[in-house]
Amino acid sequence: MHVFHSAFGNLTLNRWPVRKNDQLQAWDAADEYLLNHLADNKLVTDTARVLVVNDAHGALCCALYKNDVTHWSDSSLSQTDTQQNSAQNQTPANLEFVKSTGHLHGVFDVVLIKIPKTNALLEDQLIRLRDHINKDSVIIAAAMIKHLQKSAFKSIEQIIGPLTTSLAVKKSRLIFTSIDDTIPPPQNPYPTQYTDPDIGMTLTNHASVFSRDHLDLGTRFFLSAFQDIKSANRVVDLACGNGVLGIKYQQLHHNARIQFIDESFMAIESARKNYASAFPGQTIQSIFLAQDGLKNSSAESCDLILCNPPFHIQHTVGAQLASGMFHDARRCLSSGGEMWVVSNHHLDYRSVLNRIFGNCRMVAKNKKFVINKVVKRH
Ligand SMILES: C[S@@+](CC[C@H](N)C(=O)[O-])C[C@H]1O[C@@H](n2cnc3c(N)ncnc32)[C@H](O)[C@@H]1O
Repeated sequence: MHVFHSAFGNLTLNRWPVRKNDQLQAWDAADEYLLNHLADNKLVTDTARVLVVNDAHGALCCALYKNDVTHWSDSSLSQTDTQQNSAQNQTPANLEFVKSTGHLHGVFDVVLIKIPKTNALLEDQLIRLRDHINKDSVIIAAAMIKHLQKSAFKSIEQIIGPLTTSLAVKKSRLIFTSIDDTIPPPQNPYPTQYTDPDIGMTLTNHASVFSRDHLDLGTRFFLSAFQDIKSANRVVDLACGNGVLGIKYQQLHHNARIQFIDESFMAIESARKNYASAFPGQTIQSIFLAQDGLKNSSAESCDLILCNPPFHIQHTVGAQLASGMFHDARRCLSSGGEMWVVSNHHLDYRSVLNRIFGNCRMVAKNKKFVINKVVKRH
């Protein structure tokens, strides 16, 4: 149990699901700094409408619970964590959740932005934010210095207005800005599209999507082995990104029912769009779910899983992530069901898969990537 001594009161915050001896906190020094600054300068009045962008586990939303707060994020995991933390602290009063692919409404008095890992996501968020702020809106971005790229400063200056920065405190920094009406509202370039002649697909990708402007090399290698994958009925494209794996499988196996799963709302929206344009005019039988891997899926509910696993989520790198996914995969596969996994050589998933499934066969490898296959035996 972790207690966050915020400037607005103490909060018990977790990363969910709670793991025994989890050392990872559900807030960082940038959250702390931001809340201290708001409290010291009395920037949040009782009636202020607050927008919190990319609050990873709800530390900011929960601290400001007395206000009308909107949580806006691309991460379904962040949304779930914020809901759980809010319930745990009994701070749910005026908390609204808006997906990154959804629409904000009204004007916000205070906007707090945690800088995301992908600058394209920040750009998309800033462009869309412009219709929801005015000259009086307090706008503060925050990040750990190690996560701050020059591109973030540039985007804020070009899209919102001039900025100043705070001193560094506990390796975090705040960025202050306000709307400059003389900057013409930029055209939003997202989602973007590319065509890959080798796989014969045009893929649309929202701002935060993995490998947004070209086909990832690991994905390309995986696709080259698709003719060897068995025909199955219930198939999951796990951590689907723009859905390219599931769509290709569907092209090869018309009767398969595919579930596309990703924790990012933008990924799921991209996969849905790409699927619709790959199979125009057809009734869509596939399911698109923004959720934490197979956590919510039933035991023995699928016969084949295709996976190019994540190796980080937002700023957190974790081998735990993939290994948690593989455990759930085993539970969700039917007996005889298979999971195919592509990964970089250096991420030794082979031993993890062997430990969980008791069998792991290397199907193909090249200089950089390896494709492994496991079977659920009982
Ligand atoms: C390496 S990318 C693979 C994307 C796509 N399958 C491809 O090959 O282009 C990994 C994906 O995992 C997603 N992801 C990260 N954590 C996740 C989680 N807990 N549950 C589901 N998806 C997750 C990311 O959003 C990202 O789209």
